[in-house]
Amino acid sequence: MAETQTTTTSAVVQPEKTEPEAPAVIPVDVDKIYTKEELSIHNKDGDLWIAIDGTVYDLTKFSEEHPGGKKILLGVSGTDASKKYRKYHGDNILQRYAKDYKIGTINIEAQESKGLFSRFRKKK
Ligand code: HEM
Repeated sequence: MAETQTTTTSAVVQPEKTEPEAPAVIPVDVDKIYTKEELSIHNKDGDLWIAIDGTVYDLTKFSEEHPGGKKILLGVSGTDASKKYRKYHGDNILQRYAKDYKIGTINIEAQESKGLFSRFRKKK
């Protein structure tokens, strides 16, 4: 009588992960403060930032899936798009997406206060 060998697939042991997994993306410092000039460099397909109400967003990846299309984002890339943004969206949209695409804030105050405080500076 010939014996049949049976193999049990349930006995397959998965190798244990011993090393901690490397993060999929390099953590972004969302508290970073950018200047208008820095923002303006990121103005193309493949490197697309915009600012909305003082927050800077890296929309490079999102531009591929933006329901309003990539072209319109490219048109305002590297700039403050607050006005145009408000034209097409409600507030709830940013609340949903901000955490994924925020990379920092824009240093508007410094530019504004330069003029404001200069009035109080003593002339030597
Ligand atoms: C962080 C930035 C942005 C996010 C997260 C975002 C997200 C979205 C989302 C989720 C929609 C679909 C809206 C819906 O289903 O009701 C949409 C539509 C649209 N977005 Fe944006 N958007 C951004 C920036 C912009 C900017 C800067 C512009 C214009 C310069 C723009 C123009 C549009 C247009 C034209 C539509 C289509 C509106 C329509 O079909 O009625 N978006 N966007």
